Formats: sequence, structure tokens, C-alpha cells
Amino acid sequence: MTMRNRIEVMHGVNLDQLGRRDPEHYGGLNFDRLEQRIEGFARELGLTARFFQTNSEEEFVEHLHRLHDLADGLVINPGAWTHYSWAIHDALEIAALPAVEVHLSDVDAREEFRRVSVVRDLCVATVKGKGPDGYREALNRLKEELQP
Ligand code: DQA
Repeated sequence: MTMRNRIEVMHGVNLDQLGRRDPEHYGGLNFDRLEQRIEGFARELGLTARFFQTNSEEEFVEHLHRLHDLADGLVINPGAWTHYSWAIHDALEIAALPAVEVHLSDVDAREEFRRVSVVRDLCVATVKGKGPDGYREALNRLKEELQP
């Protein structure tokens, strides 16, 4: 069997601005440093991470359309799109890959609108409120899924 270790890490709207967002919710790391941390977590687990971020919902959806043959699993933090983008929900369904939803902040302990996730039902797990370490947990979960 071929090794299933290719993980696509997708970040949505406003996550590129991490260093400028409320540190109480998002911590002090800027986006480049976050991606470096995730890359390190992946390497430790023997996974290969590839990264994608956009503030355009269209680009996000089109990237999901392309993913099927390029990745074995997906870590997805769609930012605010999480809470309302049925277009991203449908594109994730088309991608048909095992996916873990990650949020740096505890979305269930903030404003009411953040408690809804339109991607949750398509994900094998959701990790929230654990900051950058949440991505390690997500990668671990995907590894179990891909290499049982
Ligand atoms: C977020 C939570 C969302 O509610 C918010 O809109 C974000 C980031 C998180 O990682 O905690 O942009 O997905």
C-alpha cells in the first residue's frame, strides 16, 4: 500500500492577519510562524504538510476542487467562513478527503454566531481553543485515520 501522508493545511479569511488580531483569542504568533509550527508538527509525525491561505472564498472553493488527487487528508480552518459558507461545505464534500476542523480560539465560548459550524458534519474531528497545539492534535487524528 502506498504511504498516505500528504496533508493539505488550509486557512481561510483573515488568518493571514494573525499577528494583528486579538491575542487574547489568537495568541501572539504571526501567520508565518504558525505555519512553521505546523510544518514542524507534521514532520515529527512523518507527514508532509502543504499550505494554502486565501481571503477569497472563490479561491478557497477552487482549491478544494483541485485537491482530490493532491492530498490524502486535510486540516481546515476556514476562519469566519466556518459559520456560514455553505459553498465551502459543498466544496469540502466534493473534495471527499478525511478532514479535521481546527480553530485557534474556543469558538463555543465566544459570540453566539461562532457556535455554528457548517463544515463540522463533514469532518472526522473538530479541535478548538488549543491555539497552535490544536494543529498537532489535528495532524495526529488524521494520521490515525490515514495510517491505521
Ligand atoms: C477562527 C474562529 C473564527 O470564528 C474566526 O472568524 C476566525 C478564526 C479560529 O481559528 O479561532 O477568523 O477560525
